[in-house]
Amino acid sequence: MAETVTIIDNRAGTSVEVPIENGTISASAIRQLDPSLFVYDPAYLSTAACSSTITYLDGDEGILRYRGYPIEQLAEESTFLEVAYLLLHGDLPTGDELTEWRRDVTYHTFVHEKVKEFMKGFHFDAHPMGMLVSTVAALSTFYPDAKDIDDPANRQRQITRLIAKMPTLAAFAHRYSAGQPFVYPDNSLDYCSNFLSMMWKIAEPRFDANPTLARALDVLFILHADHEQNCSTTAMRVVASSRADPYSSVAAASAALYGPLHGGANEAVVRMLGRIGSPSEIPAFIGGVKDGNERLMGFGHRVYKSYDPRAAIIKRTAHEVFEITGPNPLLDIALELEKIALEDEYFVSRKLYPNVDFYSGLIYQAIGFPMDMFPVLFAIPRTAGWLAHWVELLADPEQKISRPRQRYDGVGERKYVPIADRS
Ligand code: CMC
Repeated sequence: MAETVTIIDNRAGTSVEVPIENGTISASAIRQLDPSLFVYDPAYLSTAACSSTITYLDGDEGILRYRGYPIEQLAEESTFLEVAYLLLHGDLPTGDELTEWRRDVTYHTFVHEKVKEFMKGFHFDAHPMGMLVSTVAALSTFYPDAKDIDDPANRQRQITRLIAKMPTLAAFAHRYSAGQPFVYPDNSLDYCSNFLSMMWKIAEPRFDANPTLARALDVLFILHADHEQNCSTTAMRVVASSRADPYSSVAAASAALYGPLHGGANEAVVRMLGRIGSPSEIPAFIGGVKDGNERLMGFGHRVYKSYDPRAAIIKRTAHEVFEITGPNPLLDIALELEKIALEDEYFVSRKLYPNVDFYSGLIYQAIGFPMDMFPVLFAIPRTAGWLAHWVELLADPEQKISRPRQRYDGVGERKYVPIADRS
């Protein structure tokens, strides 16, 4: 059987036979029939905009792999920095490579003193994610050499800087909004413990985070490190396709992540659970969702049409965290909500399952993060994924500057009317 699709233009009676390659057909084939014809696909529901070797996702089977490694194994056995290396370089590091990578990241955790001053310019109640987006963009002015994106060594330097400095900027954004002095990085600590130190250290000479909580955060970072062509990664690729520097591109990706349908969903989940207030109120809430009055946040996914494998790992991690921090009363509501929703015809027929954000907010809250830090906590690890896609994009000979077409549905030509003659 031929692995092709035949497209027929019934107007002219012409046809084109298009090969199926790895589950895709070339959209440009349609223009062989008629150069003025385009494929209309709002929100890219049916479009593969690139080929990638980074993350494999099967939404029907609930499979997620980074560079071939199942997410479950990485969450169990690996660390975030090792996973970041894997995403960026394609293979797990050797012992020496990992030591060097850790050392490089550790050496780049500090930011220029002027970055601190820049952050102090924000209003006292600025949202930390807004601060992060702007400050990452501002970093491009501190590293003008980053514009030289064709030099692999230079690219690697910017990658190391970004992965190293994101936790510092994130913690500074929190400290500023809490009215607390900035805490400099402690380079004797690992990636997550250092971040927790910058978040919460007061006057003690060294802040030693609870190792279970630091490990839980590391697991969450692994789970959030990449997720193929989502909204923010697409923003990263689109902006980087104009050959913008990586700081500007990561700022654009972070801005895309800020929205409540993407990286803001975990904050929305916790607010929603708080609003529901008790398990007895769940049926009324579910009724409101089914009537279309609101969404069950943390449920549903563009790609996963079965249980999000990250949600299953996070649910286990939540129990480990609550053993240390004590139970979060919202967990009971979340568990009951999940149980009821998974049995309800509305959610079952639409294949709506818990996604990564359904439980992650509860863990962040239990560890002590304020809610407006949740999207920031997503941006830190996702930077590794964005940068892996950036490197891949630059090396892909099929890629050009992103420039989609549109279907013009507006009015035809009309004559300018002077203001005095307008009714
Ligand atoms: N609650 C209630 N109904 C929903 C939900 C939900 N959370 N999600 C989808 N639906 C319904 C939707 O109303 C539609 O029903 P109908 O066919 O009757 O019109 C159907 O399911 C299909 O929904 P859709 O909006 O066409 O699906 P989408 O692929 O465009 O949206 C989504 C995906 C993630 C934006 C959406 O499921 C959603 O808004 N979920 C809540 C927000 C959330 O949890 N986002 C985090 C996503 S995971 C982290 C990340 O990748 O950023």
